[in-house]
Parts: sequence; structure tokens; C-alpha cells
Amino acid sequence: MRSTDASIPKCAPRAGEPFRRTLDAGGAPGPSYQRMTAHGAGRRRSAWPFEHLLCSVRLQQGGYPLAMLGLPTIVGEGVVLRALRPTDARALLAVFGDHRVTRMMAIRTLEDESGAVSLIHEIQSLARAGTLLQWGVVLPATDEPIGTVTLASIDRNNRRAELGVGLAHAYWGQGLATKAARTLLGHAFRTMLLHRLEADVDATNGAALRLLENLGFEREGVLRERWLVEGEWRDSVWLGLLAGQWSARRR
Ligand SMILES: CC(C)(COP(=O)(O)OP(=O)(O)OC[C@H]1O[C@@H](n2cnc3c(N)ncnc32)[C@H](O)[C@@H]1OP(=O)(O)O)[C@@H](O)C(=O)NCCC(=O)NCCS
Repeated sequence: MRSTDASIPKCAPRAGEPFRRTLDAGGAPGPSYQRMTAHGAGRRRSAWPFEHLLCSVRLQQGGYPLAMLGLPTIVGEGVVLRALRPTDARALLAVFGDHRVTRMMAIRTLEDESGAVSLIHEIQSLARAGTLLQWGVVLPATDEPIGTVTLASIDRNNRRAELGVGLAHAYWGQGLATKAARTLLGHAFRTMLLHRLEADVDATNGAALRLLENLGFEREGVLRERWLVEGEWRDSVWLGLLAGQWSARRR
């Protein structure tokens, strides 16, 4: 979803980066995998019965299991994360057609519904390439996206990714971003077996900093004047969360 327009601010997926880095195409998991993660249940029979062997071989080699890439539906507490579809364009426009939301992220503000449709196609294609996974955040009662959560800059060899969250302004301050991000953390660490998540947050973005620190992210440094935002240089705060820290907090 990231714009190639580097003049736009930041948080998670670096502007343009997903388009420059293309990893091996990862096979999208099939429906059986989706059910497995949605209910947090044990592994079900996959379309290819030896898939688990492939995963363990790749992990031993330090690689990333292909089967763990994709956008399964994930049911969290009070929110559901699911793949976006072209029919979500209007809802997505309500999120990313708002400068208050896009200002802190490396994306252009959407102008119309056709821009939202293009964005959804771009998100689908990045997911197929395995470089960026962006889920719609929906409320169970409506199944309509109120925002997105993203794993960008996915590095399979080092098992890390960059986290991003953006919600429609109307839903801010209700704890929903925290619920959505927490749901994604569970998937990233437990199912995808990532080792580290990081975030690049505008130093003035109090809500994002608070959200991430509440989830256990630690500040790891300030990168001065990293982004040129509407003619103004902005500092970034880098935050990181390790799988071990995350599971220790849950005990
Ligand atoms: C960042 C964002 C997702 C937070 O959404 P939200 O719905 O307000 O988040 P939550 O309601 O879960 O609140 C998260 C925490 O931030 C706090 N918070 C909310 N607004 C704040 C602000 N302006 N300054 C400081 N803290 C703030 C909340 O009080 C809460 O902390 P608490 O539980 O200790 O009280 C939302 O503001 C957004 O979409 N912003 C635009 C995009 C963006 O900046 N994304 C960041 C990418 S990492």
C-alpha cells in the first residue's frame, strides 16, 4: 500500500521500499490453513500433506516458511483481520482518504473510490509477492474495514517485519487499534514464527508511540530528520519487540 512518493510521512512500510525489494513469490495458503489460524486450532490437513516438512526444512536453513505467508482471516478479541477485496473500496476510502490518517504514514491520501480499488489490487499483489501483508480490520458485526494492520519489509531470512496500524478517524480512542495490533502480534509471533517486529514512528505521533509501548515495544533509537514531510524534516522513533519478550509478557 505504500506510496512511492517519498515526500509523504511515515510509520511502518517505508515509502517505495516494498516496490524495490521483491522476495521469492510465496504461495498463498489455502482455505484449510486459513481455518487453522482463524480459530487458533492445531494444524489441519493441508492441501499438500508434506507441507510441514517443507516448513521445518526452511526453518532449519534459517529461511522463512512459505506456507506462513498470506492473509488468513484472524479472529481477535472484538476485531477480525481479513484480506481486503475490491468491494471494500468505499470503506477503505473512508480510512485513507483522510489526511489525519495518512499524514503519519508513508502513503498518499486517497482521492476517490477508484484510487481505493487500485490500492486494494496493489495490496493483493504485494501479498502474493510475500513482501507486505496488509489486513483489513473489521468489526465482527459489520464485516466492513475500519482500518488496516500491516506487516511490511518482511525479511524471511532474519524473521522480522515492520508493523503498521491505521484506523479511520471515527474509530480512534476506543482501544480498537490496540486490539487489532495485539491480534496481529499473536499471528506474527505464534503462527508466522517471526523473531522481531519493529516500527518506525514519527516522533510527534503520541498515539502510535503509546499504542506500541503498551504492547511491549521498546524504543531503540531516534533517527533524526529521516522523513521530509510536506517540506518539513521529521524525526523517527524506532521501536522493537522480540518474540521472547512478547511471550514472557503473556505468561
Ligand atoms: C495510531 C492509531 C492507530 C491509534 O489508534 P487509537 O484507536 O487511538 O488507539 P487506541 O484507542 O487503541 O489507543 C492506544 C493508546 O494511545 C493513547 N492515545 C490515543 N491518542 C493519543 C494521543 N493523541 N497522544 C497520546 N496518546 C494517545 C490511548 O489513550 C491509548 O493508550 P492507553 O490505553 O494507555 O490509554 C490512530 O491514531 C491512527 O490511525 N493514526 C493515523 C495513522 C498512524 O499514525 N499510524 C501509526 C502507525 S504505527
